[in-house]
Amino acid sequence: MIPQSLSDKIDAGRVPVSMQLEITRRCNWRCVHCYAIPKDEGVESELSTQQIYDLLDEAWDLGTFMLSITGGEATLRPDFVDIVRYACERGFAVTIFTNASLIDDAMARTLVELGVVEFQVSVLGASPEVHERMAQRRGSHAAVWAGVRALVKAGGNVLLKSSAMRDNAHEIAEIHAQADQLGVGHMTTPVLLPRWPGDPEIDGMRLKGEARKEIIDLQAGWQMALHASEDEHPRSEHEISGASSPGCRSGTSTMSIGGNGKVYPCNTHPADVGDTRERSLKEIWADFSGFSQVMETDDAAMEPGAIADDAFTCPMVTYSARKEARSPASQRVAMGKLSLGARLIRG
Ligand SMILES: C[S@@+](CC[C@H](N)C(=O)[O-])C[C@H]1O[C@@H](n2cnc3c(N)ncnc32)[C@H](O)[C@@H]1O
Ligand code: SF4
Repeated sequence: MIPQSLSDKIDAGRVPVSMQLEITRRCNWRCVHCYAIPKDEGVESELSTQQIYDLLDEAWDLGTFMLSITGGEATLRPDFVDIVRYACERGFAVTIFTNASLIDDAMARTLVELGVVEFQVSVLGASPEVHERMAQRRGSHAAVWAGVRALVKAGGNVLLKSSAMRDNAHEIAEIHAQADQLGVGHMTTPVLLPRWPGDPEIDGMRLKGEARKEIIDLQAGWQMALHASEDEHPRSEHEISGASSPGCRSGTSTMSIGGNGKVYPCNTHPADVGDTRERSLKEIWADFSGFSQVMETDDAAMEPGAIADDAFTCPMVTYSARKEARSPASQRVAMGKLSLGARLIRG
């Protein structure tokens, strides 16, 4: 039977059915476009293992079902596997965002046995030269593919993701071919969010005009090949890029916990809405009534700087470019109900 209180909350559009949890901001790579690394706050700001377990318990009680464990590079934490184990045993549908460079055969086997739903792995170039230039790490190309092969060997469900930028766009199709050869999924997006408010360099990294359209068309072609019928074809750029929904679900059905234990509307947003070390997640969630409100209270942090090209995909980009926030998407209630169904099926 559907728990009435949860059902009511979902009807009201206020259940954090999905949560992104950054367990660290540290990383062994230095990707040129990365929004996480400039906010690298070191190990001392991170939540302890027990604090993360407590947070997961709270999130579960709030109705969170889908959990993305991310970073920085989450695998850097010595307790990474323990955290994944705790989350999987608690019942979350766990996705891991990783560069896979530290995943060996043994770790891959354990993670797959624990029931991780998906491994989303960043790949930034088909050749070692381009990959290492984008990740700013020698050996990163060999390391990511070793990790991906370990995950595939263990039977993991792997999706490769490539941010398409001026300096790697020419290798995106080749990454896709490499993914195909290995039998794993691959997606790309040209959407680049500002690494910090007013980021002066991000626009120089972005694809523009025809080059951007080519990437969108590539991704659309791959999506269409995945879908059996015309009816299921993605129609909007949001669906094609997979980067953002055509509205923002922050504060209505999703939230993000930063590597410092603070709650953010999303991983890239500069202003937090509460600190889990000071208040319960339940209290923070109750007060966090949506993205527009955060925008209004955060004028100083959101000076214009980014460019409007990608703006419509994300209210944060829209705001930083035009000082104009967008209202949350209406699909959130439908999505919440879908997730509730999935959660009930899992028991
Ligand atoms: C911050 S990383 C954390 C997880 C892991 N280290 C990884 O690289 O997959 C998560 C994803 O964010 C993407 N990303 C980083 N900076 C971005 C930006 N400025 N705009 C859009 N996506 C970005 C990365 O390419 C990666 O796919
Ligand atoms: S691997 Fe991920 S967290 Fe690390 S620098 Fe690259 S995008 Fe950022």
